[in-house]
Amino acid sequence: MTIRTGRHFLQIPGPTNVPDRVMRAIDMPVIDHRGPEFAALGKEVLAALKSIFKTEKPVIIFPASGTGAWEAALVNTLSPGDKVLMFETGQFAAQWSSLAERHRLDIELVPGDWRHGVEPTVVEERLRADANHEIKAVCAVHNETSTGVVTRIKAVRDAIDAAGHPALFMVDTISSLGSIDYRHDEWKVDVSVGGSQKGLMLPPGLSFNAISDKALAASGRNTMLLSYWRWDDMLKTNESGFFPYTPATNLLYGLKESITMLHEEGLENVFARHARHGEATRRAVRAWGLEVLAANPEEFSGALTAVLMPDGHDADAFRKLVLERFDMSLGTGLGKVAGKVFRIGHLGHFNDLTLAGTLSGVEMGLRLTGLHNARGGVDAALDYLAEAQVG
Ligand SMILES: Cc1ncc(COP(=O)(O)O)c(C=O)c1O
Repeated sequence: MTIRTGRHFLQIPGPTNVPDRVMRAIDMPVIDHRGPEFAALGKEVLAALKSIFKTEKPVIIFPASGTGAWEAALVNTLSPGDKVLMFETGQFAAQWSSLAERHRLDIELVPGDWRHGVEPTVVEERLRADANHEIKAVCAVHNETSTGVVTRIKAVRDAIDAAGHPALFMVDTISSLGSIDYRHDEWKVDVSVGGSQKGLMLPPGLSFNAISDKALAASGRNTMLLSYWRWDDMLKTNESGFFPYTPATNLLYGLKESITMLHEEGLENVFARHARHGEATRRAVRAWGLEVLAANPEEFSGALTAVLMPDGHDADAFRKLVLERFDMSLGTGLGKVAGKVFRIGHLGHFNDLTLAGTLSGVEMGLRLTGLHNARGGVDAALDYLAEAQVG
């Protein structure tokens, strides 16, 4: 048996570390989900969650992982055979498109190199070419968790508007919500898909759909078979604070607390904190002589950094070594970049010293793996943190 001392470093890009405050909030007796105490909790969290999506419109909470909320977005608004424009920006975008295909949607998947986000000019071009408005929805992943690349959602919105196209706009905010600026109403997103286990600092188990009036109107028209994911049943029951089926009661206590924490810090400060830690991490990576996977500085992520291992070095062997030696979990390379990249999560409940510890573990691991010149990354990050003081 291996004896481990100190705390495990969970530095994958989600699930993230859960603050003690949130754990304590969850640690409550289970209550009657059809009783008055639950109704008050339900109403409170459903209202509070709107501020995180920056919307005045309804937000639905599913007791499900993010994949469930992906499915809900599609099945409520689209029907088999409908054309959907999607972009292969990374593993999660690819998985969302596979899910859509299983629902017999007709997917036009724009290929990508996994180093860039959705290109707004391509969106405009494709939509202009669709003179008969056959494309019913455009889907994009805001923060591609497999690559650390952020799609500029406002620019994509502007591209849809410039083409004068009526397609619904659906955005996966699973690893951006509560870490990177996101504005459901202002950017006229029709369905925003979110999850509990990343910027919201909760355990996995909740996922969300923020819904525009246009998406709600479209949901009345669909002919897809749907039951569990139905928005109409959910919205009707949510009016009184209840759910049509058993909600994840204790996670909702946690959600209430995590939203309170995000507002105590101030959402803009939360985003700035993540951006600052992202920049410090990238400086460390460059000092080690390694390359960040994200190619365009306008698309760098504050939530995570995917790092390319040099040729001849297996990223998973490196991650295994870091786990065994330093008890730190780093994110694995997914799909096309498996074995080639490792990912450093710097989102959620995270501060300067968590970053310093994380980067120290990476730097020590790189040296042990034979990259003897991988030095000075921690120093470069600390220099930046000192010069880019908060507030
Ligand atoms: C951007 C993104 N979309 C979707 C998912 C899928 O969510 P889940 O694993 O909670 O079903 C993830 C999971 O990490 C993700 O990062």
